[in-house]
Amino acid sequence: MNEAHSITQIGGVALDALAAEYETPLYIIDEAQFEAQIECFTTNFQSQLFQTNILYASKAFTNQYTAKKVTDMGLHLDVVSGGELYTALSAGVDPNRIHFHGNNKLDRELRLAIEAGIAGIIVDNIEEIAAIEAIAAEMNKIVRTLLRINPGIDAHTHDYIKTSKENSKFGLYIDDVRTVEAIQAMQHSPQFDFRGIHAHIGSQIFDEASFFKNADAMISFAARLKGAGITIREINLGGGFGIYYTAGDTPFEMRAFLQNYIAHIESALARNDLTVETIAIEPGRSLINNSGHTLYRVGAVKQPFAGKPYILIDGGMTDNPRPSLYGAKYEATLVGKGAGEIVYDIAGRACETGDILIQDALLPQAVRGDLLLVLRTGAYNYAMSSNYNRIVRPAVVFVKDGFSKVVVKRETYEDLVRNDVQYEAEGASHE
Ligand code: LLP
Repeated sequence: MNEAHSITQIGGVALDALAAEYETPLYIIDEAQFEAQIECFTTNFQSQLFQTNILYASKAFTNQYTAKKVTDMGLHLDVVSGGELYTALSAGVDPNRIHFHGNNKLDRELRLAIEAGIAGIIVDNIEEIAAIEAIAAEMNKIVRTLLRINPGIDAHTHDYIKTSKENSKFGLYIDDVRTVEAIQAMQHSPQFDFRGIHAHIGSQIFDEASFFKNADAMISFAARLKGAGITIREINLGGGFGIYYTAGDTPFEMRAFLQNYIAHIESALARNDLTVETIAIEPGRSLINNSGHTLYRVGAVKQPFAGKPYILIDGGMTDNPRPSLYGAKYEATLVGKGAGEIVYDIAGRACETGDILIQDALLPQAVRGDLLLVLRTGAYNYAMSSNYNRIVRPAVVFVKDGFSKVVVKRETYEDLVRNDVQYEAEGASHE
């Protein structure tokens, strides 16, 4: 039997009790499992030869509680917008642990980052260099930077989440002469403390060799730069480590991988006769995804005139757009009902034919009122949720040792109209 079908509690709290207390849909994070995964990274990605920084990719799932918690546990944060940066700063995260990414950072975002004195900005393009220089000069600041490099590694994953093809919109290509010129521009400017290079080759990658190839490419590039008189103190190798969602996904064992990755990096540095101060990685999905699950209530079980029966749930693409966007697959269980052999499509409640969360789910007979748990939704679910159809975002609760707490409240109808402006008919009295 698929073990998913025996899940009736998370973190010592019964799922029906969570549904009763917080309503559904509900994002549930198993806090102890999240902590264990963070510790897996911090204990296994370590070297005697260089400092290691693990940056949590906020884009996967962030809010004030999470940003502060992960940095208190020793991680750094990768942020990609003023909003993610503000979330971290307002949560009280040490600016020295915040690293700012993005392929088109706005001037006002750069100002916020530079004013706060964050750990560094990962520069994406040539225009950004001038923009940072101007803002830093105006504020009389020196800005630590890395340059995002596209190393041209072809990793096997979904085209939309692959980021390192030669025509990628991210970074500057490793073999483009303009890349070295961009580094030299930063090196020669009094406004920059240029520290090194960054590359991220894509997301949900199962092939360990792609990460090793990326490390090799970046380290030999750093060695070439050294030959040109440029010192690379830091190399950030990005994230993208693949994880298990459904049968057929073949993730590597993270602990062994991280240790092998370190060994690989150490020997590539030795081979290139290079030393660096810091090696960083940037996992998002692999840190949070499998500690998170979404709980729904079944509203109806519909047998259409032809075809498979639908289970209609009280959420869908507004809380998890990944199936409709990427064809992503998930596992689900009807809480407390065990395994079954009926083939259902699980349909969301948005007015979209494509709002099908899971196709061909094998489950027992469902009835209105059942709880349905969709497993492993921690990453890129809450983060990519929307208010389409003016559906409110669910709450996020963290559970641990038999206790639960709300980390993000469920939205209210008042939240939905907060930024709306009331219509007043022309000529109406304004008194
Ligand atoms: N660093 C950079 C520069 C990135 O662009 C990303 C993800 C990460 C780190 C973290 O990657 P991870 O370890 O989470 O794979 N919305 C898509 C995923 C987009 C990922 C974008 N960048 C999805 O739901 O699959």
